[in-house]
Amino acid sequence: MRTVHSLKELRSILRNYRQQGKTIGLVPTMGNLHEGHISLVRKASEAADIVVTSIFVNPMQFGANEDLDKYPRTLQEDQDKLAEAGNTLVFAPSVDEVYPEGMARQTKVLVPEVSEGHCGASRPGHFEGVATVVAMLFNMVQPDVAVFGEKDFQQLAVIKKMVRDLMIPVNVVGAPTVREEDGLAKSSRNGYLSEEERATAPIVFQTLNRVAEQLQQGRSDFQALEQEAQNVLAEAGLRPDYFNIVSSQTLKPATDEDRELTLLVAAFLGTTRLIDNLSLSR
Ligand code: PAJ
Repeated sequence: MRTVHSLKELRSILRNYRQQGKTIGLVPTMGNLHEGHISLVRKASEAADIVVTSIFVNPMQFGANEDLDKYPRTLQEDQDKLAEAGNTLVFAPSVDEVYPEGMARQTKVLVPEVSEGHCGASRPGHFEGVATVVAMLFNMVQPDVAVFGEKDFQQLAVIKKMVRDLMIPVNVVGAPTVREEDGLAKSSRNGYLSEEERATAPIVFQTLNRVAEQLQQGRSDFQALEQEAQNVLAEAGLRPDYFNIVSSQTLKPATDEDRELTLLVAAFLGTTRLIDNLSLSR
């Protein structure tokens, strides 16, 4: 497995593979890889001949008061895990390589509607940063297929819409959320949790499951359910950011007609922001 840092080198290696008729899969990440990321690499290697994993902590998608500086950077460990998972190439560019003229002068991609609300409301500019860097990665790698986690449900919806709207020739595939044994969704940010917070964290997935059960039993008083879920999280010591019951297709508030629902949650545990979601049909 090779690691490259420059776009020039990336392009020259990929040109070679393409000339050999090989298909290319891309897994964009910010590194500090865990089993969730690795499951995407495995999925990509089933769908394409060669797999490129990008590792880039994208400053454009972090707000001023967010964790850009303390975000864990663990390239050596990441490379070891990727080699084991059958990854072909790691692309780990510097900030200057991606934004040579600086972020302020960078052309940006704005995806309306699906990027509004939920994380889009709490993190202004976040999805603009995500869509921009993912569009750039698609142009740098020109993959046949790209794999993203359902863990970041809204992000996946934003990228699918961007690809449709900009007619980017890539097949975007979602992969299920990988969890710890107690249900907590694996996340690079779980490492920020204290021992006590880590013991509390599974309440997020438990609450999603409890609400999903009630919806399947026929409850449709969505706002009351959302409020109850927020109360449960607050009583456990979390600071809920949102708990929203939405249409899985549009991410707009659920209506009585919707059969496919998704529960979206974000909550602070201490200073760590956890997100999770659960989809159901009824
Ligand atoms: P990052 O948080 O590193 O996640 C990279 C990919 O791994 C995303 O597609 C995410 O949904 C997926 N992922 C994270 N945790 C997962 C889990 N427990 N189970 C399954 N998949 C999981 O998401 C980003 O980076 C960035 O926003 C990025 C798309 C790379 C753009 O900068």
